[in-house]
Amino acid sequence: MGRSKKRTKGKQRPDKLPFDKYALYQRAVQEPEADIEFIDETFAAHFDRTPHTLREDFCAAAYLACEWVKHDDANRAWGVDLDPEPLAWGQANNAAGFDESQSERLTLIEGDVLDVRHDPVDVIVAFNFSYYCLQTRSELLRYFTAAYGNLGPGGLFVLDIYGGPEAQELVEETTEHDGFNYVWDQDEFDPIQSRMVCYIHFEKPSGKKRMKRAFAYDWRLWTILEVREALSEVGFAPTEVYWEGTEEKTGEGDGVFTLEESAENTESWIAYIVGIKQ
Ligand SMILES: C[S@@+](CC[C@H](N)C(=O)[O-])C[C@H]1O[C@@H](n2cnc3c(N)ncnc32)[C@H](O)[C@@H]1O
Repeated sequence: MGRSKKRTKGKQRPDKLPFDKYALYQRAVQEPEADIEFIDETFAAHFDRTPHTLREDFCAAAYLACEWVKHDDANRAWGVDLDPEPLAWGQANNAAGFDESQSERLTLIEGDVLDVRHDPVDVIVAFNFSYYCLQTRSELLRYFTAAYGNLGPGGLFVLDIYGGPEAQELVEETTEHDGFNYVWDQDEFDPIQSRMVCYIHFEKPSGKKRMKRAFAYDWRLWTILEVREALSEVGFAPTEVYWEGTEEKTGEGDGVFTLEESAENTESWIAYIVGIKQ
């Protein structure tokens, strides 16, 4: 399994997109509808209401933030990223066709997730393991403290996490999509530092064109316990783990996440970690 929450059996669109790294990334890796369903259900289970304000940290092209705004007329989203390029791409593509109300309910901010403050929100997300770029415990604690401060009372902080023995192996795994291949490349792993260097490459199925190192990541591979302990330390209580089930036939993840305190060891796994601010 690659480092992608998205299952390849999901709906595919015809191959009309240009060979553009942000478009290909979204098709290969992201599934905002599933994330939003998870967020709405988990929030309602805790607070008995529907959340309407969401901040997407490390948002890149803000795919989730844009889908959040479209999902409900009462929804408002903030997206925060250091890099102006994906933000501009997201504004031009993911927010293309927004009406006046939708545009007014989306705010994309070029800035550091540690520094950007605004009105408190119901939900903050950091998805596709983006916080793995924070390589020390003190940086992680600074980020979690900032997230805690940006949530209102009765708020959820939702992170995803991946691991398992395969996460530490130097593997290059190709997933076929309509019109392109997605290649997840775990290129380096340092077991002392728990540091990994990974790349995403895209290629045409013909093999004629390859977009090498379209995205590069220098990450610390955090564990669930480390993340939960850090969340607790800054005030989130309780913290929860939603573990993905496995399809019997294929052994692949099934996209169904359930609240667990213990799990079976598998070669690779994905989970959501949720911190609750009372
Ligand atoms: C893995 S990508 C984002 C993926 C996206 N969240 C998703 O769900 O697919 C990581 C992004 O984090 C951004 N980034 C890294 N450090 C940041 C920071 N301290 N503050 C804001 N953005 C940051 C990078 O510019 C990059 O666009």
